[in-house]
Amino acid sequence: MTIHLAMKEHGDTAPTVLLPGDPYRARFIAEKFFHSSRCINQVRGMLGYSGTYQGHAVTVLGTGMGVPSMAIYATELIREYGARTLIRVGTCGGIQEQVRVGDLILAQAAGTDSAFNTHIFGGRDFAPTADFGLLSSAWNMAGAMGFKAHVGAVFTTDLFYHDDPEFFQIWKDHGVLATEMETAALYTVAARYGARALSILTVSDDLLSRQSVSSDDRETAFMGMVELALSTAFAAP
Ligand code: HPA
Repeated sequence: MTIHLAMKEHGDTAPTVLLPGDPYRARFIAEKFFHSSRCINQVRGMLGYSGTYQGHAVTVLGTGMGVPSMAIYATELIREYGARTLIRVGTCGGIQEQVRVGDLILAQAAGTDSAFNTHIFGGRDFAPTADFGLLSSAWNMAGAMGFKAHVGAVFTTDLFYHDDPEFFQIWKDHGVLATEMETAALYTVAARYGARALSILTVSDDLLSRQSVSSDDRETAFMGMVELALSTAFAAP
């Protein structure tokens, strides 16, 4: 038991953990993809489940939104419950012309406006980076599974709502593919404790054309992303 998680028994948490932002998505993933799943956490409504996928032990846990929430769950999962492979399955807003709603982003790196890393590194920069084994497996599998995927940097922002129409411009100018709110924290915490991490993101909004994915397409894209995440988790060296 930790401050934010209720798991007690050794083995309640698998070494491989999927991390959607929305706790109801965690329940949905467990119901649709896991065999013999059981609820392992309900503290703060942050639903978590463990079960098996094609014979492999696996856990899914909601993270909530934003850097501090992701950092709390990732830290407790790795440090206290032995998580070794953490894959975020979330959404993002595209900020490049070639990135369309429904595409997948494999986040190679994450810049951020969060103070998280400047606190940790005493004002200096850190480069939060995906695990290369997971990234290359996900890239190869996305191709084999017929997904349109992009590999590149994302912008992890603390601001979902903001007033500045130029907010994303400098990131766009530097080739950043999309914006979301958790990946920099996941990659930094994984680096700190020697775990492997990857964010796989569905482009739910195109922030240039202001298009959003329809709810049917959102569902299809989400299912594909989870399949890719699970295949990646158990294929990578
Ligand atoms: N901003 C931040 N996070 C997001 C967005 C966005 O526009 N879309 C999906 N996740």
